[in-house]
Amino acid sequence: MAEAPRTVLISGCSSGIGLELAVQLAHDPRQRYQVVATMRDLGKKGMLEAAAGEALGQTLTVAQLDVCSDKSVAQCLSCIQGGEVDVLVNNAGVGLVGPIEGLSLAAMQNVFDTNFFGAVRLVKAVLPGMKRRRQGHIVVVSSVMGLQGVVFNEVYAASKFALEGFFESLAVQLLQFNIFVSLVEPGPVATDFEGKLMEQVSTAEFPGTDPDTLRYFRDFYLPTSRELFRNVGQSPRDVAQAIVKVISSARPPLRRQTNARYSPLTALKAVDPSGSLYVRTTHRLLFHWPRLLDLCLRCLACGCLRSRVQPQ
Ligand SMILES: NC(=O)c1ccc[n+]([C@@H]2O[C@H](COP(=O)([O-])OP(=O)(O)OC[C@H]3O[C@@H](n4cnc5c(N)ncnc54)[C@H](OP(=O)(O)O)[C@@H]3O)[C@@H](O)[C@H]2O)c1
Repeated sequence: MAEAPRTVLISGCSSGIGLELAVQLAHDPRQRYQVVATMRDLGKKGMLEAAAGEALGQTLTVAQLDVCSDKSVAQCLSCIQGGEVDVLVNNAGVGLVGPIEGLSLAAMQNVFDTNFFGAVRLVKAVLPGMKRRRQGHIVVVSSVMGLQGVVFNEVYAASKFALEGFFESLAVQLLQFNIFVSLVEPGPVATDFEGKLMEQVSTAEFPGTDPDTLRYFRDFYLPTSRELFRNVGQSPRDVAQAIVKVISSARPPLRRQTNARYSPLTALKAVDPSGSLYVRTTHRLLFHWPRLLDLCLRCLACGCLRSRVQPQ
């Protein structure tokens, strides 16, 4: 007899990875999932509904959910049949780049409210049910920046580091309840995410930042970041495919990086626990040897470095 479909709740499905994931799960050939694809602004549901096609109203429903609001989370869960979530995907997230002197604390707190406390809020809401039923899976869309800091992304990386520490700790207790935790760690992904950041940056003045730091940010970091996305960027479809694999796995992994082309960069940290290799190499490449950096990015794109580094 076929098993009952698992209810999968995904946050942040108005675009990007969340949208792709919702559509892929809803079109599962074995119909193993009932997808509750959520977004904070239902005015943006058009793209998802168009991509869902005939799955809409069958294996996929759209619901409102702002991960920063207790009320919105409670309302969303009360609309799910039986209120039971088998798989929670914490995908909603926002970025923030720029010199920290020029960023307000309110902007930094918003990143933590969304990326970290948003995920924690949802977990607190679904965990009692999962524990009662002694089954469940919590998937978190983290980032390679949850493993390794990246210059001018200090606050975003910190929010992803926070997720990594929180969920790695929780994973131990939850195994006792047959509940799995998986942190999925994409590298750069070609979604609206980068576009939104570039838009913010193009108008921001970063008040209080000294001219040298501003120059490093605009003339060194920004072009390199664009090159990195161009050379190593993954499609949201590929990332969603990797998450589907994690969700359908009988023994889901705690961590899964999705982009083998990025792995030479995370390897810099793994091979030198002191951190010096990563910090010094990145510093020299970014500020002193931009031509070599350019060459390295091209190598990452063609895979000649990747083949020398064990992926994951
Ligand atoms: N793109 C990358 O390079 C990259 C790399 C590694 C990890 N990630 C992570 O992947 C996840 C998805 O990002 P993406 O690349 O798919 O970018 P995206 O297209 O910008 O999607 C982000 C989603 O989060 C939603 N969101 C933001 N604040 C929210 C809130 N308070 N409540 C509910 N939803 C909210 C956005 O909704 P609105 O449309 O309403 O803003 C949007 O649906 C994020 O956690 C991000 O950190 C992205």
